[in-house]
Amino acid sequence: MLHCIVTDKFKMEWTRVVVISLIMAHATSSTDGECFCLKEIASELRNPLYMAHTVLNQEEVYFIAEQTGTIKSLNVKSNVVQDYIDLRELVVIEDRFREERGLLGFALHPMFVNNHKLYTYSIRNFKKDYAVISEIKKSGTLFDERILVAIPIPGEQRNGGQLLFGIDGYLYIFIGDGADGSNTSKAQDRTSLLGKVLRLDVDSFDIVNDKIQYYKVPEENPFVNDADWRPEIFALGTRNMWRCSVDRGDSATGEGKGTIYCGDTGDDLQEEVDIITKGSNYGWNYREGNVCLNVTMCSTIANEVLPIHTFNHSDGISAIVGGPVYRGTRFPYLAGKYIFGDFGSGRLYMLNNSGQNWQRSELSLCLTSKCGCKAHATPKQFLLAIGEGNSGEMFLLMTDNIMAQSVASGAVYELVPPLNDTKTATCGSESNRSFIGLLLVSTFLFLLNCIETTSTEI
Ligand SMILES: *[C@@H]1O[C@H](CO)[C@@H](O)[C@H](O)[C@H]1NC(C)=O
Ligand SMILES: *[C@@H]1O[C@H](CO)[C@@H](O)[C@H](O)[C@H]1NC(C)=O
Ligand SMILES: *[C@@H]1O[C@H](CO)[C@@H](O)[C@H](O)[C@H]1NC(C)=O
Ligand SMILES: *[C@@H]1O[C@H](CO)[C@@H](O)[C@H](O)[C@H]1NC(C)=O
Ligand SMILES: *[C@@H]1O[C@H](CO)[C@@H](O)[C@H](O)[C@H]1NC(C)=O
Ligand SMILES: *[C@@H]1O[C@H](CO)[C@@H](O)[C@H](O)[C@H]1NC(C)=O
Repeated sequence: MLHCIVTDKFKMEWTRVVVISLIMAHATSSTDGECFCLKEIASELRNPLYMAHTVLNQEEVYFIAEQTGTIKSLNVKSNVVQDYIDLRELVVIEDRFREERGLLGFALHPMFVNNHKLYTYSIRNFKKDYAVISEIKKSGTLFDERILVAIPIPGEQRNGGQLLFGIDGYLYIFIGDGADGSNTSKAQDRTSLLGKVLRLDVDSFDIVNDKIQYYKVPEENPFVNDADWRPEIFALGTRNMWRCSVDRGDSATGEGKGTIYCGDTGDDLQEEVDIITKGSNYGWNYREGNVCLNVTMCSTIANEVLPIHTFNHSDGISAIVGGPVYRGTRFPYLAGKYIFGDFGSGRLYMLNNSGQNWQRSELSLCLTSKCGCKAHATPKQFLLAIGEGNSGEMFLLMTDNIMAQSVASGAVYELVPPLNDTKTATCGSESNRSFIGLLLVSTFLFLLNCIETTSTEI
């Protein structure tokens, strides 16, 4: 009697989501004290994939970039969300599952509060696709933009997207290798900017071949005196670094300050976490994580630096999302730990440096009953980035649907600690919430049943 119109593909998708949700519910519920709660601070976003914290017109704001091309400002006090910069007409993005183009990142100038300059990383089309790094200065409702670098990208994926300022005041750019297959990578090619970390002085300009260049190559860059190399290169052999951070250092001792950590997404074998240092070679595409892919070349990699941590895809991690070294105060047991996550499952991990090695452990979401009434949010499926607030507290940028042009299902969650006492909080809408939950589950089961019973007929 039921008229369910379902295709096999639809069924597979839903089965996968159900399975993942069950795994997540199992893996992330915890009964011990060391867990986190989530408070939603923004929703209906289109693939929120980077976040920064600053002061704008004397008010604290979070800037949140959407892959579709806008940087929104969220006023911390009033919660008002507005478009700050709109690049939607300029970036290239399509509505499909593996779309790695669009606006991919931004960085605020270290003096942003005074000069209002920020830097964007996006994919744009000028007859062909380029990874474009631009400087934007907003004044009133208009903004001036100038392009610092435009690198032609060979494929549509592995486009990098991280920008950050080091404590040396230089802009670091993490370019993906842009390749379609592991054999065609330019990550080891010293004449190409693909698969590299670049370092630029954006507070100066230069004249190169009689043309203005809106940056200068720092004299301390590692390869400036070797004509075989592009002088912008700071490090090489990277695949597709997705989310890097600069450690602000221990607030008392300064320990760790300035260290740059990155998650480098792997190919078929391993994901890795790297510490980025000058002139280092991170091995791709001769080595993936710790695994040698090209036996004749592995022993010839000069200045190779191995990852501080790797993990196989068989460990249940699909694609790494690098996070910060935690320097906040809400979670004392995370102090000084490197935090990262997994794109596909939304899981969070920490690395604890126990002297010789870095040990991984999973962080768990608290049971709702342990969380304050405003921190009952349940995470979405995909983790896009881990944000860091002004005082070092953390945020998760997530979505349920990465087809961001048609669906705005992204949200930002603030990590908050569980309640201190053991008695559970009674929240006004709690019983309604449970009821809605029950309703959703029943609808789910109904649908599933409906799929089961009709699929044989299709
Ligand atoms: C890429 O390299 C692998 C060995 O690492 C080889 O098996 C494969 O055939 C190569 N693919 C192409 C397209 O050259
Ligand atoms: C190893 O790398 C060299 C240099 O890039 C390349 O010529 C060779 O084809 C690679 N071998 C394999 C098996 O991919
Ligand atoms: C990870 O993968 C590598 C290469 O495939 C393999 O040598 C290693 O044993 C694996 N490690 C674990 C813990 O599964
Ligand atoms: C980190 O490692 C140290 C040294 O092994 C250990 O004493 C400490 O308990 C670990 N911390 C966490 C949070 O796992
Ligand atoms: C928990 O207790 C500690 C000290 O007893 C206090 O500093 C902290 O603010 C409390 N946290 C919450 C969420 O109540
Ligand atoms: C459930 O929600 C309705 C409408 O928002 C509200 O009037 C009612 O008091 C809620 N019930 C409980 C038990 O919180």
